[in-house]
Amino acid sequence: MTNLKNSIHSMQIDDSKIISSDMRDVPVWDLLVRLFHWTLVAAFFIAYITEEDFMTLHSWAGYTIIGLLVIRIVWGFIGTKHARFADFVFTRKDIVQFLKDTFALKAKRYLGHNPAGGAMVILLMLSLVVTTISGLVIFGIEESQGPLAGWVSGLGHFWEEVFEGVHEFFANFTLFLVFIHVAGVLLESLIHGENLVAAMVSGKKISDNGHHEEKLK
Ligand code: HEM
Ligand code: HEM
Repeated sequence: MTNLKNSIHSMQIDDSKIISSDMRDVPVWDLLVRLFHWTLVAAFFIAYITEEDFMTLHSWAGYTIIGLLVIRIVWGFIGTKHARFADFVFTRKDIVQFLKDTFALKAKRYLGHNPAGGAMVILLMLSLVVTTISGLVIFGIEESQGPLAGWVSGLGHFWEEVFEGVHEFFANFTLFLVFIHVAGVLLESLIHGENLVAAMVSGKKISDNGHHEEKLK
């Protein structure tokens, strides 16, 4: 009995050691952000590879992206701490300084998006907005389908060509941004010795400053 008590006591001591440690997991990305991210990745690649040959799949992947963007933009105002725009929109000066520090391999670590990552999130979202809206316009002109058909189906061949050019350019520009985005994620992971991709799956990161965020508010 005494042995059992002793062992329970030592387990409690061990637990408290872990809990009071300055290196522990803290919640950073909520479930909505994680679902948004990985659904967006899948829908983007489906839309990109299907293009005009599989129009039904292409347009549904595109609609999924529009829905995701609307939800994420609203969540950017009312969501949890690191999901809010206010947490990751920095000044141009901060972004430039952060990039300089990154290339000098001495960039500061951020629990949420760093200044360059935050700017990239905004760029990716804007580029996706232009890609999807131009897609809806072409869909309306060519097929007289989709939510914009009533407004755009009368537009002639000239505008069809213009929006096709815009759509193709921004689809490729988004892909280009994605390459830089993933390169940035890998570089920051290397500099700080942490796996940012795994954090976007689990939602958790290690807090190393003793400043714990118990709950995502
Ligand atoms: C397989 C390739 C990808 C990987 C490994 C990846 C990884 C990540 C990671 C780790 C983050 C969090 C960055 C941080 O710690 O600050 C992130 C955020 C983000 N990524 Fe990706 N990403 C990929 C593809 C994409 C694609 C294709 C898009 C869009 C077309 C995208 C859009 C975004 C956005 C919008 C965020 C911000 C998430 C939020 O705050 O809601 N990513 N990504
Ligand atoms: C981010 C999401 C999207 C991506 C990455 C994407 C990508 C592409 C690409 C690469 C093409 C081929 C362009 C060319 O070579 O001419 C294409 C064509 C097309 N897309 Fe999208 N698209 C997206 C969203 C949408 C949406 C939401 C719609 C409408 C519902 C749409 C409708 C179309 C149409 C009608 C074409 C055929 C254009 C033509 O006739 O040349 N797309 N898309």
